[in-house]
Amino acid sequence: MTTTTATTAVTGAVGTPHTRIEGRDKVTGAARYAGEIPFTNLAHGWLVLSTIARGRVRSVDTAPVLAMPGVVSVLHHGNAPRVDGDYVGMLGRPDPVLEVFQHDRVPYVGWPVALVVAETSEQAREAAEALVVHYDQEQHDVAFSAGRPGTYTPESDGMRMAKGDLEAQLDASAHVVDAEYTTPEEHHTSMEPHVATARWDGGRLEVVDSNQGSSWIASELAQLFSLDPASVRVQSEHVGGAFGSKGPRAHQVLAVMAATALDRPVRVVLTRPQVFSLIGYRSPTTQRVRLGADPDGRLRAFDHQAQSLSSTVHEFVEESAGFGRAMYAADAHHTVNRVVRLDLPTPTWVRAPGEAPGSFAVESALDELAEQCGIDPIALRARNEPDVGPVSGLPFSSRNLLACFEEGARRFGWADRDPRPGLRREGRWLLGTGTASATFPVLVAPSTAAVTAEADGTFTVRITAADVGTGARTALTLIAADALEVPTDRVRVRIADSDFGHAMLAGGSMGTRSWGWAVMLAARELREKLLLGGDIPAEGLTARSDTSEVIGALSQKERHAFGAQFAEVAVDVTTGEVRVRRMLGIFAAGRIVNPLTARSQLVGGMTWGLSMALHEEAVRDPATGSLVGPDLAGYHIASHADVPHIEADWVDDPDAEDPVGIKGVGEIGIVGAAAAIANAVRHATGVRHRSLPIRPDRVL
Ligand code: MOS
Repeated sequence: MTTTTATTAVTGAVGTPHTRIEGRDKVTGAARYAGEIPFTNLAHGWLVLSTIARGRVRSVDTAPVLAMPGVVSVLHHGNAPRVDGDYVGMLGRPDPVLEVFQHDRVPYVGWPVALVVAETSEQAREAAEALVVHYDQEQHDVAFSAGRPGTYTPESDGMRMAKGDLEAQLDASAHVVDAEYTTPEEHHTSMEPHVATARWDGGRLEVVDSNQGSSWIASELAQLFSLDPASVRVQSEHVGGAFGSKGPRAHQVLAVMAATALDRPVRVVLTRPQVFSLIGYRSPTTQRVRLGADPDGRLRAFDHQAQSLSSTVHEFVEESAGFGRAMYAADAHHTVNRVVRLDLPTPTWVRAPGEAPGSFAVESALDELAEQCGIDPIALRARNEPDVGPVSGLPFSSRNLLACFEEGARRFGWADRDPRPGLRREGRWLLGTGTASATFPVLVAPSTAAVTAEADGTFTVRITAADVGTGARTALTLIAADALEVPTDRVRVRIADSDFGHAMLAGGSMGTRSWGWAVMLAARELREKLLLGGDIPAEGLTARSDTSEVIGALSQKERHAFGAQFAEVAVDVTTGEVRVRRMLGIFAAGRIVNPLTARSQLVGGMTWGLSMALHEEAVRDPATGSLVGPDLAGYHIASHADVPHIEADWVDDPDAEDPVGIKGVGEIGIVGAAAAIANAVRHATGVRHRSLPIRPDRVL
């Protein structure tokens, strides 16, 4: 028993740079990732994916493979345990790929058709590669194009929003931009591939995973396998990147199926090509943007029609047309997201879903309009700054877009810019600069947390948060320390264990905001308890929080982070190569918890924006529907040599009414970055690129 002593108030951890708490463990290899954690009697599952884009599995030749060394089992649609995907999960109806091996239909290339389980991973792989699967192949359709037959507007909320008479306002406009933009299929293959290990232990299912939300995965698995939620435990201590891809997927389900069937621990690791095939991607988009403006650039008409694709089994929509809804005032403001269902894998959330491709189209179109009107691109944005939500009519919680442009323009040296294109030359390089706006919505979701005062004077925070590389564990430590008014070295934050209770997943830039709120509430309550005095029992004194109610009480507002992106490019007139020379992003993202990791998030997003602008493009073979070169050699991403000086910073963005004030920095960094680069290429060369990536062959 220890007696509580009144602590000297210590605050100010939030807002001060702090290196990652697990940083040393990660760089020394002491931090174990999901695929590295040892299990006794572990069996290894290797996935076999379909090689056809549409049809049925006629048969699986299991006998020869079962005779191979070490092979324990081959699971497929003919022998797999039943699962039930008829539920509504945390993010809606499950993707039918979770109902793995429940029927013989193949809806796309890369659909799981078998799992070979063996004593070693090498034996499983050899057998999986030897397994012969016979198909009845059908004609497939994988051709994505604007307005192609089958394109429709989904029923779900927010797909179409319209205010005012668009055609009338376009007719009354002195300047009109009407252009089509395209972005290709893009992949978010993280450094750490997807891997899950499942085992039964004393009537409990335990899954060691790499995911964005352990309570999310646990609840999906419980529903799929009709298990008592309390009997499922999912842990995901360290995660080597996720970006929207690490939700419930077939490999976790298969690890559970195999562990159940074989009554021993089973691990399923995806190979790099399987990551490309199985875990989702960003749909290609075609986007038509129409802007109509008065001679002074004031917008009369704003129209954004976006189209993406989904699979035949699940409707996922890349909501590119959402981007403009909070951005610019216009008398008529129309936005619609359409989708077409093809014989292709289901796309999914990829960093700044919707906003990343949507901002490329809208922010390029704004640049086109600025040129037509003869107005500076920043002045054009200022002229169309809305007082309230352009479509919703709701007040903004805080809106500091123009402060971002002001600070960005000053630091970038925008005032000296000659707007005329194609004038600056340095040897064989044409030089240009460009800018674009960024925004991302600020949302929050219910989470629970527990904070314990330990008998030794330290504090333990427990929350099912996920640190997917963002620095969430560190951010929560700073938040807890300030709320407890103790130094950070007295706080230990434990995350990513579904036994800690329900919490929001790491997604939608809502993680730190959602978890931070729950941690703050529990920590403050604990502090109240401690101030009452008394002994701390040996097991500690715990306070718990659940933010469901306080979140419900938030006022109706437009809540967004904003940003201004700047880029300078050099274009080689002989090869068509575009080199980005520097990028600057200034953001208004509320309270910055840890400047060190927040800056990394923003620079990471901007780097991806550079990659999106110049390099990334997944190519599919129309004859087979499969990806060409589905690995990090074939899928070109920006390398170190492509990435110049990138600077990210922020302006003050207080929101007096918001109890947390955190807006999130996970996604906004990529938003607008590709448009700023495309606008700079236009400024350098006089050529407008409306299709990404801006490859050398397109530049020439
Ligand atoms: Mo993010 S794409 O919301 O995981």
